[in-house]
Amino acid sequence: MLTLKTILSGALAAAVATTPATGPTGRDGLAIPPAPSPCDDTPPPPGATLAPSRDLYCLFLAPRPGLDGLSGHLELRPPHSPFGVAVNSAGNHLYEGILTLDGLPDPATLGDYDHIVAWLATPLFDTVINLGPVANGTRSIGEIDLNKFMILVTAEARPDAPEWEGRLLLRASSPSSRMSPPDMQEFILGATGTAQPTHQHGAMDAAAGNGTWPHPPMMPGLTMFPALMALAPPAATPFLPGAGIDPATLPLARPRDVLQLADGDEITLEAGLVRRRIHSRDHVMYGFNGQYPGPLLHVPEAATVTVHFTNSIAWPTTIHWHGLRLDNASDGVPGITQDPVEPGETFRYEVHFKDPGVYWYHPHHREDVLKDLGLYGNMLVESRHPDYYGPADREEFLMVDDFLMAGDDPMPFGEERSTHAFMGRFGDLMLVNGEPEYELDVTAGEVVRLYITNVSNTRTFNLSFVGGAARMKVIGTDVGAFEREEWIESIVLSPAERYIVHVRFDEPGDVALVNRVQGIDHLGGAFFAETDTLGVVHVAGTPGSRPTPAALAFDTLRTNLHAAREIALYREHFDDPVDHELTFTLEASGIPFIVDRLMRFDSAYFHPVEWSGTMPMMNWNSTSQEVRWIIREPATGHENMDIAWNFEVGDVVKIRLHNERRSFHAMQHPFHIHGQRFLVLERNRVPNENLAWKDTVLLPAGTTTDILLEITNPGRWMAHCHISEHLESGMRMLFEVGGSGSG
Ligand code: C2O
Ligand code: CU
Repeated sequence: MLTLKTILSGALAAAVATTPATGPTGRDGLAIPPAPSPCDDTPPPPGATLAPSRDLYCLFLAPRPGLDGLSGHLELRPPHSPFGVAVNSAGNHLYEGILTLDGLPDPATLGDYDHIVAWLATPLFDTVINLGPVANGTRSIGEIDLNKFMILVTAEARPDAPEWEGRLLLRASSPSSRMSPPDMQEFILGATGTAQPTHQHGAMDAAAGNGTWPHPPMMPGLTMFPALMALAPPAATPFLPGAGIDPATLPLARPRDVLQLADGDEITLEAGLVRRRIHSRDHVMYGFNGQYPGPLLHVPEAATVTVHFTNSIAWPTTIHWHGLRLDNASDGVPGITQDPVEPGETFRYEVHFKDPGVYWYHPHHREDVLKDLGLYGNMLVESRHPDYYGPADREEFLMVDDFLMAGDDPMPFGEERSTHAFMGRFGDLMLVNGEPEYELDVTAGEVVRLYITNVSNTRTFNLSFVGGAARMKVIGTDVGAFEREEWIESIVLSPAERYIVHVRFDEPGDVALVNRVQGIDHLGGAFFAETDTLGVVHVAGTPGSRPTPAALAFDTLRTNLHAAREIALYREHFDDPVDHELTFTLEASGIPFIVDRLMRFDSAYFHPVEWSGTMPMMNWNSTSQEVRWIIREPATGHENMDIAWNFEVGDVVKIRLHNERRSFHAMQHPFHIHGQRFLVLERNRVPNENLAWKDTVLLPAGTTTDILLEITNPGRWMAHCHISEHLESGMRMLFEVGGSGSG
């Protein structure tokens, strides 16, 4: 499982101690893509001040005492990925290791040695990898996929020993190795229950609002501090829909309809109560038109459709048409583009579908509650070019989600404010199109086009198929196709992102759709593998049948000329100076003492992506009253809604997005910009080699991401983190576009 693909050759041995350490220079056939490293002091590009976290993406090697003049560092560089972060199908983060060494002596001066060799090893030495002979200078050591590791440089008599036998010269541990079990003092603190709940709303044993707070579910196998288990419920009234309503009186939610629409069509959408059956129990939830998910709107490119919306739930709400470059007045942002639609009221949206791609609609008021309870649906905009994506035999739409249960019933939501304000509401019930047991029937050999949308509040998924031969390539994302198709082993998507994938299931049998990630056991300071099954694909055999034209075409990776030509028009802007910078961070106040202590302890290391909810009590207890998530503009010091950006239609704007590692709790943020589209140009200063238009980008902890925002659409637009609870806890801003654009 833990493997390392080294691309070093023995030829490096000859170069020992002869080359001075300079910038990244490919040598001995090892191409090192030119990119400034977070380890060195290369000044940031014009206009930028923010840099990737050294602490998370650079290891400085310490020389063994007595060996003067030796130094080195290992950059953890993000390898190319069509997704926001590079991981393998097991969820291990992938890095290209760029090793720089300086001042290495001639090994013969250290004893009976002829070679200097680098090693990668896990902390318990259960994996030890000989990286081969090394020299002064900079080289790639290949791809690293170990959760925790050490790098060592030794003097050796032979270059190819399976374990080091010689003299240790330099060493360093991965940033993730700093995670360790809390010390004795923290244990005592935990065991004696120092927790002083600051808020006492909705006591766990007494009815409050329309219900009581049940205990949140614990993850099996995770140990928790007693004091955490005794935390008071969050400072909010527990809410579940349909208080006093017998679910049996409500219509059972129907699977979604597909609405084939043409330009000028009118439809109605009604948000209302539905009965949902989950594992043979009935619950009151929400749906559009009695469906779950809502109807799939299938429209041609450039169409405009009128939607007559009726709000038949007890909350004010709106519909936001995520990713569409439509008229500002129909963007559905309460207080900005419209008043909220009060219960019983209606609103008319003119929904314009400018770009091919897969989109989705959802409320933009208390999204953490209303969307999570079922108010979401997909939209497919068909390109005017029939061959836009390359051939497939069929299309399927997967809205992936996780829903938080407390035993047999849904975990209540905070009525006046969001709970789970720290990490967002991770669920324990995986859903595809609202179904806990998703099933799909396909025929062996056919190519299935999957349109996948992450509708969860906070979970980033790492999806793959296991149990049979299923080859996958990614062809598109939020706002259309990639320049080039790419083979992939899993699909990584953060909340609100979409990916379009072609899959060919080659063998008859059952194949599971799984989410595989590396979770963190905070008490043990350790990673653990988590696998959740989201559904099953039944692959039927077709003995003797001929491959379809799509199956034949599948073997070749295609360049999408439509997408590539359009993106090429923007290439002249790729090296523009950075126009704006934003930092993503947070502040917390009034949180319980024990939570504060443990989270500070935990900040020794932040994983680039928090894949699962392994702090369930601390997270549940936090609300948007104590936690303030912040988008800060360093140039002005402005934060969130105080940021005031003005653009004109026709502007092309380069923005550096920086996820602050040195915060109380750094984690990834899926950043979404309304009404425009953008290209992701580089991550941690490494240029992106395969572009596609996007509306949401994943920002892993401690990274910088440069985007090129194309301003085409006038109005007042929102930009925000798409973790629902972060949005509710302040992480949002506005920008204004003047001019008379095409809309
Ligand atoms: Cu999908 Cu402002 O949201
Ligand atoms: Cu966020």
